[in-house]
Amino acid sequence: MPGRVRRPKSAPTRKGAPGDAGLVAMAAAAREQAYAPYSRFRVGAAVRTPDGRVYTGANIENASYPLSHCAERVAIHKAVFEGHRRIDTVAVVADGRTPAMPCGACRQVMAEFGVRRIVVATPAGRLRVRTLRQLLAEPFLPERLLGKR
Ligand code: THU
Repeated sequence: MPGRVRRPKSAPTRKGAPGDAGLVAMAAAAREQAYAPYSRFRVGAAVRTPDGRVYTGANIENASYPLSHCAERVAIHKAVFEGHRRIDTVAVVADGRTPAMPCGACRQVMAEFGVRRIVVATPAGRLRVRTLRQLLAEPFLPERLLGKR
């Protein structure tokens, strides 16, 4: 039986930046844009940068299955393309009755850009909040390759 789950506190948001509820609503809307004809499993994500910007994404599949992109990575990489290098919170909304936790590859991408909190919700509004530390205990980090360790 797992120990007590430590609930990360809500990160303070800059004035005008969406809080967790707003971020989850944006992830739910993003889920509608999923291109998932093969799995029919739709996922939406919304990521918030420390300066309060939000970028959204949805999963995009391919007939050559391994080329598919997860919603989280689409959203994170959109933010990175726009010049951001840090992301504080990731919200995810996926099909299902219980929250679908992000896959391992997405956890690694979150570590690259300093994600701290992950809010995972079902379309019906069931919520789970975790730190990335909880989901990825000993990450491989960029410092390793940048000569800082
Ligand atoms: N998927 C995501 O978008 N995020 C995850 O964290 C796990 C899986 C997508 C990828 C694929 O389009 C579908 O869900 C089934 O794996």
